[in-house]
Amino acid sequence: GEAIALPDTRFSFEGLFGTFDRGSLQRGFQVYKEVCSACHAMKQLSYRNLLEIGLTEEQARNIAAQFQVVDGPNDQGEMFERPARLSDRFRRPFANEQAARAANNGAYPPDLSVIVKARAGGADYIHALLIGYTEPPAGFNLMDGMNYNAYFPGHQIAMPNVLNPGQVEFADRTEATVDQMATDVATFLAWAAEPELEQRRQMGVRIILFLIVLGGLTYAVKRKIWADVK
Ligand code: HEM
Repeated sequence: GEAIALPDTRFSFEGLFGTFDRGSLQRGFQVYKEVCSACHAMKQLSYRNLLEIGLTEEQARNIAAQFQVVDGPNDQGEMFERPARLSDRFRRPFANEQAARAANNGAYPPDLSVIVKARAGGADYIHALLIGYTEPPAGFNLMDGMNYNAYFPGHQIAMPNVLNPGQVEFADRTEATVDQMATDVATFLAWAAEPELEQRRQMGVRIILFLIVLGGLTYAVKRKIWADVK
């Protein structure tokens, strides 16, 4: 399809030494929980994973307990609901794809666990998509129930604009501009898709340091061995 230039967002996790900003991850999770999770599942994540973005065990437990999950069968062979625990996967908004489509005009809100890897442009694209809702240009033929988005391929998207200024009230008092919420949730989704990124980078830096030291030693040894050869 046509390539659309995306605004380039400065993410904390970019570059050789980039790490996921913990504040941004936690705000991003808040945006996911309060906005996106109404329609999008993240089936790869468990509430326990929230410890990795810096929440305490008690905070993660309390968040889990806000959600009812289906368990069972019990001794009577019945399924039952109970508050989620750390070991449970994130609660899915719909029982299955059919139910999800029925609630969304026939469109399917994709699972967001690895969406950053699944879409060209990655986190930049997610951020752009969320800030990209505008009026359609004159003459654009927008179908019923669809929304115009500057960055969605084809520009017609079933997902409505979901972020308005002040949509969430951030726990850390950061001002919830649309751009801030989009950046934070894109950061959270980038982490979800690649939680091992920081460790991989650390390892890369260690390997390079090791090679520099080894190179220096090798050179010193070489000079010593050949010192008498003129
Ligand atoms: C599609 C993210 C909230 C309904 C998508 C896509 C992403 C996304 C990345 C895929 C776009 C593509 O295929 O390239 C988000 C985020 C949200 C959010 C980060 C929260 C900030 C919502 C909400 C709803 C919703 C609340 C329901 C009211 C949909 C639907 C699609 C979709 C129906 C499929 C669109 C289509 O294929 O035309 N969303 N979403 N989303 N989303 Fe969301």
